[in-house]
Amino acid sequence: MASMISLKDITKTYHLGTIDVPVLKRINLSIEEGEYVAIMGASGSGKSTLMNIIGCLDRPSSGQYFLAGQDLTKLDDDELADIRNQYIGFVFQQFNLLPKLTSLSNVMLPMIYADVDKSQRIEQATAALVQVGLSDRLQNSPNQLSGGQQQRVAIARALVNHPALVLADEPTGALDSTTSKEIMNLLTELNQKGTTIVVVTHDASVAARTKRTIRMVDGVIVESK
Ligand SMILES: Nc1ncnc2c1ncn2[C@@H]1O[C@H](COP(=O)(O)OP(=O)(O)O)[C@@H](O)[C@H]1O
Ligand SMILES: [Mg+2]
Repeated sequence: MASMISLKDITKTYHLGTIDVPVLKRINLSIEEGEYVAIMGASGSGKSTLMNIIGCLDRPSSGQYFLAGQDLTKLDDDELADIRNQYIGFVFQQFNLLPKLTSLSNVMLPMIYADVDKSQRIEQATAALVQVGLSDRLQNSPNQLSGGQQQRVAIARALVNHPALVLADEPTGALDSTTSKEIMNLLTELNQKGTTIVVVTHDASVAARTKRTIRMVDGVIVESK
């Protein structure tokens, strides 16, 4: 059976004026369905660049990326956006919620692109917010919520289309240690229900919760076990 994620000789090079900045150098990596993976490495080692490529938010400079057996490097931008909406949920360090919208409306957003009608959007978004323990905060805007609650809303938004893959880039980086644990409990629960999760973290206690740790140094994977 094909791996869920298969990266073959992926490179990413930025061009600043006449200078080439190689950020990912021939990355080879496979992640199977149901895995729970941490990516660790110093700041600047290329973790977010790799996550953005895995998440179809960015394209590699060279190499091949297969997601569920499909060669994504052959797809155009619209097709890539469809794959992203269908397969992938994102959680970011800074939550990235829209400040003027309620929790419910923030969580309903991804379904607009998925062409779901409004009553079903409300129903699914409410269920996702209940799942993350925020049934009593549906109508609050982000500035009325704590950091941990905002990250729960962001996780509900990531889950609402039932993605097979959740990517979290430093999801606990802006949270205190108690709140971090709660957020990691949610991700662990989600993985136990079958969702594949990749989490970038600086925090060894976060990585200890996953089943596999990948270490990056200077655009290269140095350890993958
Ligand atoms: N758009 C960009 N243009 C030029 N350089 C970039 C760009 N994005 C990231 N970089 C560089 O790529 C390297 C890796 O960045 P990043 O993937 O964000 O690392 P990490 O997430 O591990 O901290 C850094 O040196 C960063 O400065
Ligand atoms: Mg980063």
